[in-house]
Amino acid sequence: MQKSDHVHFCLLPSDFCIPVVFSPAMWQYTPRVAVVSGLRTPFAKSGTHYARLSALDLGKIVVAELIERAGINANDVQEVVFGNVIPSVKAPNIAREIVLGTGLPRKISGYTVGKACASANQAITSAADLIFRGYADVVIAGGAESLSDVPILFSKNFSDALVGASKQKSTFGKLGQFTKIRPRDLAPDTPAIAESTTGLTMGESAEKMAKENGVSREAQDIFALQSHQRAAAATINGKFKDEVMTVVVPPKFENIVESDNLIRADTSLESLAKLRPVFDRKYGTITAGNASPLTDGAAAVVLMSEEKAKSLGIKPLGFIKSYAFAATDPNDQLLQGPVFALPQALERAKITLKEIGVIEMHEAFAAQVLSNIQWLGSKRIAQEKLGRSEPVGEIDPEKINRTGGSIALGHPFGATGARIVTTVCNELQRSGEQYGLVTVCAAGGIGAAMVLERE
Ligand SMILES: CC(C)(COP(=O)(O)OP(=O)(O)OC[C@H]1O[C@@H](n2cnc3c(N)ncnc32)[C@H](O)[C@@H]1OP(=O)(O)O)[C@@H](O)C(=O)NCCC(=O)NCCS
Repeated sequence: MQKSDHVHFCLLPSDFCIPVVFSPAMWQYTPRVAVVSGLRTPFAKSGTHYARLSALDLGKIVVAELIERAGINANDVQEVVFGNVIPSVKAPNIAREIVLGTGLPRKISGYTVGKACASANQAITSAADLIFRGYADVVIAGGAESLSDVPILFSKNFSDALVGASKQKSTFGKLGQFTKIRPRDLAPDTPAIAESTTGLTMGESAEKMAKENGVSREAQDIFALQSHQRAAAATINGKFKDEVMTVVVPPKFENIVESDNLIRADTSLESLAKLRPVFDRKYGTITAGNASPLTDGAAAVVLMSEEKAKSLGIKPLGFIKSYAFAATDPNDQLLQGPVFALPQALERAKITLKEIGVIEMHEAFAAQVLSNIQWLGSKRIAQEKLGRSEPVGEIDPEKINRTGGSIALGHPFGATGARIVTTVCNELQRSGEQYGLVTVCAAGGIGAAMVLERE
């Protein structure tokens, strides 16, 4: 339905026909949201290439290059929405700082969203909603994370003493504030990747899932191996050339990073099998080899209304057809959120899982992806947990993560959703498939799903 269309209806039998005109204002017009460009920095193991950079630095680097590559005028951009999971206490609204640091119009407010590992998914859907509503027609959305730059906190006693000392006028008074401090108060308080409700870390939650679903160590290692092999092949075959930029690392600009540094082309089932479990050292199955690693990086997309893209002569990479966020009880299986979000996104897109040609599932852990796949194909889970009579469907192993996933590429929490949306769009273009699917699991039992279409 175009904005200018007027539709005439007759509400009575023909003899008494009164024409009724539906004007555009009465007819809900929904513009399609196009993904016109997507880009990410190479992802790097935390503490390596980007050890001295913040999430903000990485976000600015990717957005500046994205605008350049997308060939858009910075003045056309109307909003920037960014995801970030571990925010800097100095610049918590990273989106606004990116606006100020990349030459975008200063009138753009910029806002930051936090939805754990689905933060960039939330940024993209929030940006898309601005376009759906007609409030904007060009928006940049993405996410950034630096696990090399996490805030280290002081204990409560020590920070109270510091604040107390700052209020004292005399040196004696200042020193007096520290008399109650014990050696243990000096230990830094580092943020944990743990659930506040269950106290379990992500790794421990994934262990629980592996045990409850009977996902073996071998199955996890085979999946991890495939992630590395596919990521290595995609890199060699140039599949990331359009979506991964080169970073000349500031401030010295001596280190040139051209590709991800976590992919292990030479890994094998034998070397993976030798690794010791990390989260349950005695009975566990999750190792550094079949878990996503701690990673630094940033990724972003340019979204436009279809009309705006047309008017600029830009051929979109794809369109957002539907999305859904859902959640499950963290006390159950924490990382099964995608199982709850995916059927909703499919229903909203009015398509079935079978019609999807390209699937990108975020790999927090091999045990999590394999558990998600198991539940999606289970009639018992459909009936007990989803209120459906039939399973959501089988995931074809050939359709999923064809260019590797977070285990091999890395997982900068706030950025992963934007990496995946870009990859799905590019894979749709390469394969000629019409529909692509994105799923992401996240802390809090959250799941994100999005259906994209090629044209
Ligand atoms: C699992 C985890 C603790 C491992 O951290 P780490 O010990 O720093 O990992 P490393 O990269 O040093 O790897 C440990 C060892 O495994 C080896 N290794 C890792 N991946 C491998 C692979 N694919 N093949 C062979 N060996 C591998 C490394 O070479 C290293 O060996 P070394 O000790 O001989 O040097 C960390 O990556 C983690 O916490 N991941 C989960 C993050 C998370 O919870 N994310 C949230 C998801 S939503």
